[in-house]
Parts: sequence; structure tokens; C-alpha cells
Amino acid sequence: MSDVERLEAEAREAIAAAESSQDLVQVRARFLGRKGSVAGILRSIGELPAEERGAVGADANRAKQRIEGWVAERRAALERSSHDADLASHRLDVTLPGAAPPSGRLHPVTRVFRDVLDFFTGMGFSIEEGPEVETDWNNFGALNFPDDHPARDIQDTFFVKGGNVLRTHTSPVQIRAMTGRTPPFRFVAPGRVYRHDSDATHTPMFHQIEGFLVDDRTTFADLKGVLHAFAKHMFGPDTELRFRAHFFPFTEPSAEMDFSYRGGWMEWGGCGMIHPNVLENCGIDPERFQGWAFGMGIDRTAMDRFGVPDLRLMFEGDVRLLEQL
Ligand code: PHE
Repeated sequence: MSDVERLEAEAREAIAAAESSQDLVQVRARFLGRKGSVAGILRSIGELPAEERGAVGADANRAKQRIEGWVAERRAALERSSHDADLASHRLDVTLPGAAPPSGRLHPVTRVFRDVLDFFTGMGFSIEEGPEVETDWNNFGALNFPDDHPARDIQDTFFVKGGNVLRTHTSPVQIRAMTGRTPPFRFVAPGRVYRHDSDATHTPMFHQIEGFLVDDRTTFADLKGVLHAFAKHMFGPDTELRFRAHFFPFTEPSAEMDFSYRGGWMEWGGCGMIHPNVLENCGIDPERFQGWAFGMGIDRTAMDRFGVPDLRLMFEGDVRLLEQL
């Protein structure tokens, strides 16, 4: 065996034994690099007798090409097997069942509002809305609050820059809906309201529903009839109502109402005949028209209906609560 043949055999074995492309780079350098074996042979040609030089040079060059060929083959084989290993390790079982996306749920307040609005639209009421940032006039002045009324105190009301307030009740929607309209009409107004109050039974933001009707002949008896029907719809057919005389600047006479609940009474909201000053402030002639209005919170009802134990839980936005309902 010539030196070149021995070298080729050695190279072939080393190339076959290379387990990675890094191994292969080293093997190639060992045989074909500038300081490698083939280069060594070519360098030593000068020391040979002149008649041998040509043959050894040709052999060495052939060896170089062959080794280059084996390196390339081995490299391709290594790449193929690492690709196969890659595919095997990322095997995807397309027959596995997929993960269902979580489904949304309506908040208890939204559900109660929808129920309430269904009930009133079924009785011919239309839905009105107003902004949560309200003028002092709509929230207080037009509703016949005197300038020194305690509700206008900073203790109870959130004031906004520029003299506006976060509405403290849904009654300002009465002003917006009635101004520029000619009776008869009947509206319900659902929405958020704000008061400077925060403890176990009060949050600074809560929800009210307002209802009002104006016609040339409507009485407190109509108001009571509507509220009775509403109470029975909300709390069951055996529900009774109790009216207690009360005061609101925007209704006269006024009452607070309670509904029968587990052998006792539960406070529900306020109501009354719309004060003539309020009608006048909206451009409605109180000699020709009269109306009534009521308003109540709905968060308690939503809590009772869906078994939410704490008012504050209602507005923390924790989906784990909604998932239980
Ligand atoms: N706006 C009153 C409140 O928030 C409720 C009410 C509405 C009373 C309509 C009478 C008529 O307490």
C-alpha cells in the first residue's frame, strides 16, 4: 500500500466515524487542511526522485478529491439524520382533542338590567340614557334641589373640573328626556351612578333604574300599579309593596317603597309625582300634564338573584366570580 492509499483508508474511516458536523470539520482539517496530511505529502514531493514526483502528485490530488467527496456525503447524511431526529421529537398528534377557548359570561348586573328593560319595554316604555358626567343643572338644579341641599355637599357628590358632577342618581335623565318633548311619554333609564360612599354595603359606583311617565291624566295609583307589577316580576308573584311617605325635591308627594321579603320588608327605592317645578324646568306645562317617577338600585337584586355574598365582589372584575354564576 502506498502512503497515499493508507492515507485515504485512514481518512475514510475517520469520516465514517464522525458523529456530528463539528467532528467532520475537524476530520476534514486533519486530512485536507493547510497543515493536513495531503498538504504534507504535496510538500514532500520535492524530496522525491524526479521520476516519481509526477505520479505521487497526481495520486495526492486524486486522494484530495475523493476525501472531499466522502466528507460531503457524510455531511449530507449527518444533516439528514439530525433533521429526522428533529421531526421525531416534534411529532404532533393531530388526533388529540383541542382546548376549548373560555367562553364569556354576562355580569349579574347586566343580566338584571336586561330583564328589567325587557319588562318595561313590554309595558310600552322606551329606554333613555344619559352621560355619567352630568351638569349641576341636570343633576340638581332642574330637579328642584335648593342650592344648600346636603346632597350638593362635597361629602356626598364627586365634583369634576369645570363644575360638572358624576351623576348621583339616574334622575337627570328625566330632564334630558323630557326637555323639548311633548307628553304623553314613558321612559326607563338604566345606568351607573356615583356617591362618595364606600363600605361593606356601599360602593362609590352603583347602578340604578329610573322610570317615569307623563300624561294629561295619570295618578299615584298608576305609579303603584306599575311598581306592584314590577315587584312581582322581580321578586315573585306573592310579593307585596309598602309605601312610606318621604321627601325628594323632585317629587311631591313622595314615598319610599319596601317589598316583602322573608317575613319582613326590604327597602327598594323612591318614587312620587313629578314636582311641577321639574316639569316647568323641562318646558312642560304642569297645569296640563302630570307625571310620576321612581328610581331604585339594582345591585342588591343582582346579588340576591345570583347569590353573590359581598357587594364589593360585584365590581372587582374577577372572572372567577362570573365563572361560578
Ligand atoms: N333619585 C332618587 C334617589 O336616587 C330616587 C327617585 C327617583 C325618587 C325618582 C323619586 C323619583 O334616591
